[in-house]
Amino acid sequence: MLVAPPGAGKGTQAEMLSVHYGIAHLSSGDILRREVAASTKIGLIVADYVQRGDLVPDELILEILTAPILEAVKHGGYVLDGFPRTLRQAEEAYQVAASIEGIELQAVIHLEVGREELHRRLLVRAQLEGRDDDTEAVIAHRLEVFGSETEPMLAFYAKRGLVIDINGDQPVDRVFASIVAAVDGVNVDGR
Ligand code: AP5
Repeated sequence: MLVAPPGAGKGTQAEMLSVHYGIAHLSSGDILRREVAASTKIGLIVADYVQRGDLVPDELILEILTAPILEAVKHGGYVLDGFPRTLRQAEEAYQVAASIEGIELQAVIHLEVGREELHRRLLVRAQLEGRDDDTEAVIAHRLEVFGSETEPMLAFYAKRGLVIDINGDQPVDRVFASIVAAVDGVNVDGR
């Protein structure tokens, strides 16, 4: 599971990790954007939240993600990108995992990148991809939301010895190599 602020490289690294380990990449943001683009019932409800940079209500996220996670478990596992994102999501996900054989969280990768660099990356991406929530004001809000809603959740996983801090302010391949070394170390040690 990857936990990091907007622009830290969750999507970039999750994609590479899913190829490397041959497991599914589950991105809550991508799933939500697909729902919005297809104007599904859920997409119509969540569109404003995503555009404002506010978190979508926990119940909806849990409803949307439970099925893909259970499906991925049947096929060898998953990299979670962007979920859980609140303490409530973490607690609920933990309850679901505890009740189903084969679900075990192995590592929580926390990518650390300074605020200025996060802004820089997202403003570059805005020019390349034009994502609705990559405007100056919404980027600033998303960073605040990360600090108030998501960062505190890390303590939940730190208590369980799962958090691995990785310097995300390095070239993409260096970040990837650091994550793989850390994750393989976790597996070898059986932590
Ligand atoms: P989400 O899609 O998860 O967006 P985010 O967390 O804001 O993250 P980003 O996609 O902006 O950044 P990233 O960390 O994935 O970095 P990336 O690899 O793309 O969520 C969007 C919205 O959906 C939320 O605001 C919320 O409304 C809703 N939502 C999602 N999950 C939710 C949940 N669980 N609960 C409630 N609501 C939820 O990289 C960014 C850029 O930097 C790219 O251009 C990339 O090429 C570049 N880059 C990456 N790594 C490097 C590097 N090492 N060096 C230089 N550039 C790099």
